[in-house]
Amino acid sequence: MEFVQSIWEHDQEYMALIKDLIQNEELLKLDTITHHHYTTRLTHSLFVSYVSYRLAKRFNLNVRAVARAGLLHDFFHEGREEIAAMEQGSHNCVHPKIAVENAAKITPLTDLERDIILKHMFLCSKVGMPRYKESMIVTCVDKYCAISEVSKPLREKTRIKVSDWIAKVRLVHA
Ligand SMILES: [Fe+2]
Ligand SMILES: [Fe+2]
Repeated sequence: MEFVQSIWEHDQEYMALIKDLIQNEELLKLDTITHHHYTTRLTHSLFVSYVSYRLAKRFNLNVRAVARAGLLHDFFHEGREEIAAMEQGSHNCVHPKIAVENAAKITPLTDLERDIILKHMFLCSKVGMPRYKESMIVTCVDKYCAISEVSKPLREKTRIKVSDWIAKVRLVHA
C-alpha cells in the first residue's frame, strides 16, 4: 500500500472517517487480491476513497459518505471467473451489487453511500445515472485511478526501453 499509505495515514481527519472500516478483517483481505494488474484491490480502494474525499472536501460535499463508500466500492473477493460462473450478468454489472451487500454487513449504509457503490461503474455497465454529486465524483475518480494504475508501470517500462535504446545509439555513434 505504498502509494497512499504515506499520504492518507497522516491525514487525521480522513483516518477518523474510515477508522472502523480499515480495521475490518474482510476488507483487509482485499490487500491479497491483485487489481488492475499492478496493484491490490485494497490499495485501489484507498486511492479512490482518498482522492474522492479530497475532491468532496474541495467542493463542500459529504466527505464522510465519499470516504467510506469510496473505500467500499470494490468490496468483493471474487475473481472474474467466479463472477462469470454466477451467471447474473457481466463483471461490471455484478461486482457493485456484491460490494454493497458486503458493505452492508459491516456498516449501516445511507442512500447516498449505496448510490456511490452501486453506480461506480457508470458508463461501463448498464447501471443508471448517479443520483448525487458525490456518486459522480467517485465514479470519475475510480476511472482516473484505474487508468493511472494500469498506465504508470507501462510508462515506466517504456521509459526504460527508450533510455536503453538511446544508450545503444550513443554507443554505436561514439
Ligand atoms: Fe469496481
Ligand atoms: Fe474501482
